[in-house]
Amino acid sequence: YATGNNAPPSFTLTTAQPNIPVMGGGSAHSTWIKSLLDKGPLTLRVTTNQYVNPMGTNVIGIRHAVGDPDGTKAPIVMVGAHIDSVLGAPGAHDDASGNGVSLEIARVLSQYPLDKELRIGGFGGEEGGLLGARAYVNTLTAAEKARFVGEWQMDMVGTPYEPARLWALTPNGQSNYVVQEAYNAGARVGFDGLRNCRLGQSDHQAFFDVGIPSSLFIWLDYRPPAPPAVCGPTGGTYVTEPQYHKPTDTMDNISPERLQVTLDVVGGAVAHNALNAVTVSA
Ligand code: PHE
Ligand code: ZN
Ligand code: ZN
Ligand code: ZN
Repeated sequence: YATGNNAPPSFTLTTAQPNIPVMGGGSAHSTWIKSLLDKGPLTLRVTTNQYVNPMGTNVIGIRHAVGDPDGTKAPIVMVGAHIDSVLGAPGAHDDASGNGVSLEIARVLSQYPLDKELRIGGFGGEEGGLLGARAYVNTLTAAEKARFVGEWQMDMVGTPYEPARLWALTPNGQSNYVVQEAYNAGARVGFDGLRNCRLGQSDHQAFFDVGIPSSLFIWLDYRPPAPPAVCGPTGGTYVTEPQYHKPTDTMDNISPERLQVTLDVVGGAVAHNALNAVTVSA
């Protein structure tokens, strides 16, 4: 979520696949679409002005803890990423990268019994102002909120942009349990590149606002204020990679190595907190 004008470019999409199956079969609408597709190559021109998505959808995966089949009492470990992108940007980095690491965490943990409840959040409407995440935290009861261990948010976790580093950014610039567990997980695999400073602007803000420990994990050219105020309440400035919110935000500009580091740090922290099947020192 970036403040200011995100006006996307208009673009033209051309497809030459006349045999795309049309779902629904009988309705007049789908028959009409199919008749257009059957004519051959189709050019669709989309032009917009400022785009704010009022109708996002959240996709939330939940695995209950062993010993809490109804999911009413176990502590909750949540990872999150946003499933929308700005119009005109494919969103490979922002934020398919975060969802990719989320799903890999879910896949790996599917092989183990869980000691805590695991929730995988795919939030909609982030770019329109954290709409999906704010709607989600509004659905939580007080008792449910109290069960949260924390929320590890991943948004833009694999750019090869050289000046970018892995940051744990919190809305108040202070470390918390979520940040500390990420540091601990990094230390277990010999990664000491994680730094903590201040920033909202992603779904972790919605959890912070209702008192749930959270942090944004992001590969970003983030510039903290100069010492002695290394971070502090005002935080720093940042420069995004050249592909940010552009049509060039594609898989060509994703670094598997940085995704792996993110998985080691965030996935390591989440696994350490969610599993009882694996014993990890520290
Ligand atoms: N969700 C933010 C965005 O999509 C992530 C971000 C935060 C990007 C801070 C840049 C700086 O735009
Ligand atoms: Zn974005
Ligand atoms: Zn984003
Ligand atoms: Zn720990």
